[in-house]
Amino acid sequence: MTDKRLLRLLPVERWPTREEAAAMRWFAPIRVGPIELASRTWIPAMVPWRSNDEGFVTEAVSDWYARFAEGRPGAIVLEATGIRDVPSGPLLRIGHDRFVEGLRGLVDRVREASGGETRVLIQLIDFLAIKRRVAAEKFLTRFLRIDDGLRARLAERTGAAAATDDEVRARLATLDEDALAEVLSARDLETLRMGYRERVTDLELPHVRALPQTLPGLFADAAARAREAGFDGVELHYAHAYTMASFLSARNDRPDGYGGTREGRVRLPLEVYRAVRARVGDAYCVGARFLGDEVIEDGTRIDDAAWFGVRFAEAGMDFLSVSKGGKFEDAKQPKVGQAAYPYTGPSGHECMPHVKIGGAGPFGRNIPLSAAVRSAVRAAGHETPVVGAGGISSPWQAEQILAAGHADIVAAARQSLCDPDWFLKIRLGRGAEVRRCFFTNYCEALDQAHKEVTCQRWDREFPEAPSGEPADADVPLAADGRRRLVAPAWSPQG
Ligand SMILES: Cc1cc2nc3c(=O)[nH]c(=O)nc-3n(C[C@H](O)[C@H](O)[C@H](O)COP(=O)(O)O)c2cc1C
Ligand code: SF4
Repeated sequence: MTDKRLLRLLPVERWPTREEAAAMRWFAPIRVGPIELASRTWIPAMVPWRSNDEGFVTEAVSDWYARFAEGRPGAIVLEATGIRDVPSGPLLRIGHDRFVEGLRGLVDRVREASGGETRVLIQLIDFLAIKRRVAAEKFLTRFLRIDDGLRARLAERTGAAAATDDEVRARLATLDEDALAEVLSARDLETLRMGYRERVTDLELPHVRALPQTLPGLFADAAARAREAGFDGVELHYAHAYTMASFLSARNDRPDGYGGTREGRVRLPLEVYRAVRARVGDAYCVGARFLGDEVIEDGTRIDDAAWFGVRFAEAGMDFLSVSKGGKFEDAKQPKVGQAAYPYTGPSGHECMPHVKIGGAGPFGRNIPLSAAVRSAVRAAGHETPVVGAGGISSPWQAEQILAAGHADIVAAARQSLCDPDWFLKIRLGRGAEVRRCFFTNYCEALDQAHKEVTCQRWDREFPEAPSGEPADADVPLAADGRRRLVAPAWSPQG
């Protein structure tokens, strides 16, 4: 599809004038618990792969957020940031006091770049171990644990019992995929096909069994560090493929009181929230991002999500941000040597809807979920603001969502990545200058490849030298030397 056709998918026939923009709900202030946002515009968390192996704020991390702040959104939520003090590749971390100084510098940069207008929150995440997929032979000969069940199934399949573990492994190595599917347990087969992944239901693992004891303290410590670093608030990451979302999941059948029923599944998320609240106090903004629909088979649907939303609101959360999908369970099989990525299957496609997603298309696709959560929360008598996201790229669209009461705050991730100045351009009556997102997910593919996330339109539409490098090559470039690390400059005076 040509670029022109893409832009016709959600046309903005007429951009608001400056006066019209000033009267829009989207640009009106809103109270979010103890803080006030200057507008209801919001940039949700996006991992840009700009940190280093130690998980520190680098210059590139600060540049990334300062660039977003120049467009003066009401709030920016910093990318998913690890609460444990463990190596996590180049993912930002907040699991120790040594991270506070760098984070404080980043918060200062955002405040300065937005003239103090933008509130800055940080998304706190915990995740369980996930390993790269190994070659079948390596898995069968080195990693597979042999138990009586496996021996019995193998004996039945091959007609003879294997005496030693080595014999079991040798015999397994001769089986084709179909035969292995019969002999291996469902879990081992999944590990063979997808790579090893821990689950919250792996109660045989002591650290997984102990999550209800360890996580409240880890989240509370991280939130206290966020407050010390000057963040306006924290967003507890209860969405997508990670630990807390897995507790909320309808697939969580932990028998220890932290799974099964809705009450059991929401128990740890509430305990984590209460521990955080107890540590940072009522005067600090604490909310959560969670899923309106997991999209996977036997997953949580909107009725559960609306019920969770009411529990979070009555517990005292300051905002609820609703997302969709992004699960490991339906992810595509990774190549040998790579790890599964939770945005490659149908649930992942719903999380960051592609322009060709089908059905009603990507625009505002996930808003019915925030609308349902908000309506349940209001019906229960709570005024907690609800953040909606998914395919937002026009001010009229955001305005309609707010007018209809489908969300209180309208977030835009990829459109803000494509043009970080777009909020300001609209407010200045210069919407015609907005560089609009194509929703073709070039940025998401970079995230998947663990490469610095950038937008295709930053480089494509600016003059290139014959070498293929941007003409203004003094701007910081990605490691491949061919992509700008920040959006091209734009000046409100220009
Ligand atoms: C590159 C990239 C990284 C993302 N990282 C996160 C993340 O760290 N935490 C999160 O909750 N969502 C993450 N998301 C999802 C977005 O916050 C957002 O929910 C999604 O892109 C849909 O909104 P949009 O249509 O406005 O892009 C990411 C999205 C992208 C494109
Ligand atoms: S790269 Fe991402 S942000 Fe840029 S146009 Fe494509 S989908 Fe939108």
